[in-house]
Amino acid sequence: MTAHDFVDAHIEAIQQQFFALLRIPSISTAPEHAGDVQQVAHWLADDMRRIGLHQVEVIPTARHPIVYGEWLGAGSDKPTVLIYGHYDVQPAVKSDGWLNEPFDPTVRDGFVYARGSSDDKGQVFAHVKAAEAMLANGGRPPVNLKFLIEGEEEIGSPNLGAFVKANTEQLKADVCVISDSGMPTADQPAIVYALRGLMTMELIVHGPQVDLHSGSYGGSVHNPAQALTEIIAQLHHPEGSIAVPGFYDDVLPLSDQERVELHKTGMSEAEWRKNTGAPQPYGEPGYAIHERTGARPTLEINGLAGGYFDTGFKTVLPAKAWAKISCRLVANQNPEVIARQVTDFIHSITPSTVTSEVRLLGGSPPALVDLNAPAMQAAIRAYERGWGKRPVFMREGGSIPVVVDFQKELGIPVILMGFGLNNDGAHGPNEHFKLEMFQKGIHTSIHFCEALAQ
Ligand code: BES
Ligand code: MN
Ligand code: MN
Repeated sequence: MTAHDFVDAHIEAIQQQFFALLRIPSISTAPEHAGDVQQVAHWLADDMRRIGLHQVEVIPTARHPIVYGEWLGAGSDKPTVLIYGHYDVQPAVKSDGWLNEPFDPTVRDGFVYARGSSDDKGQVFAHVKAAEAMLANGGRPPVNLKFLIEGEEEIGSPNLGAFVKANTEQLKADVCVISDSGMPTADQPAIVYALRGLMTMELIVHGPQVDLHSGSYGGSVHNPAQALTEIIAQLHHPEGSIAVPGFYDDVLPLSDQERVELHKTGMSEAEWRKNTGAPQPYGEPGYAIHERTGARPTLEINGLAGGYFDTGFKTVLPAKAWAKISCRLVANQNPEVIARQVTDFIHSITPSTVTSEVRLLGGSPPALVDLNAPAMQAAIRAYERGWGKRPVFMREGGSIPVVVDFQKELGIPVILMGFGLNNDGAHGPNEHFKLEMFQKGIHTSIHFCEALAQ
């Protein structure tokens, strides 16, 4: 029985394991779910041990653990693949608009609906199941395998960079494969070659020392909620570009050739309308939708708060107001430089009637991957065999903070071979993953190892 036959023969049992993994709410940002995050780490480690991986460990960090496991039986003359993914997920509650409980995986029309189904439990578990199939019945994978699965990706991987840096010998590999991205359609595989970086901050605008009666003081105090909106309204030019001085200075422009290539697969306006339901596209003039999300930086207000927002009304003049602000960054922008520029600009436009406090929360650099790495040919062949179609190359607007650490600290190429779909609903309600894609992903992972060994 080949590894491929094993997958098809055991697909029902494999799906049940996947659903068991989806039932544990490993929400990394929520302190009350820290125990669930631990539980998934141990669940994965147990599964990795059971299938025959060696040195399986649940490695503690300052917050959520890393799961590691390897199989080095192919020998030192064979390549080693480092497979990275994350087992943590974004928050989800049914009242966000889910049709089923987000941690009660439910199959409808060949899709499993559950938080983490696509991002990233399903995609990373496909690789674990590929390893299981290659190891089953005394089988020997054609390449060496190292798995590194973290529980902090959705909170910006605060501890993984240092772990990679401190363990370059253990993690030494010839190539890193990550399945944590999407494809344009279910029958068109894609390799992602650019991810955006991220810079996150909190802005607090302070006015009076305490909340005041808006009758006694209204009209004499610059309301911090108003001042905050006046400040953030100046962060963009009216037509959609970012007004922070120097913001675009380091941006690597798209070449004409790249623009032509990207136009072939980029999201159309019709798809954008279907996926977002928003009335009109918005953004930087002169760029198509997929260029705005894949190749241009942003400045977003992710949250706003201040004053009274419960039922009824309160005639209050709030003492302060908050905004969560983030920037998606592209090559060659540096999160620290951007943080400084945005902070300085906010201070420079803050009226003297209030004060602005900026708290930096974190950042990760943008990533570009080398399309000419030899292992890329193995990835192309793997998709051709697993999907019956040559992959397209695309840019993605999301971020995977550790990619740059793998490139820099381990000096290896990273291949972003996603098995998800751009409209899987990652981070939103009714996240889903096509079970056929899950199965094809397992086959593609096996094909990748086979192609790489040749
Ligand atoms: N899988 C995504 C990253 C992604 C999104 C890749 C879309 C390709 C297309 C990842 O889990 C994610 O959501 N990352 C966060 C990182 C952040 C919290 C530092 C993101 O992009 O917001
Ligand atoms: Mn992800
Ligand atoms: Mn995510």
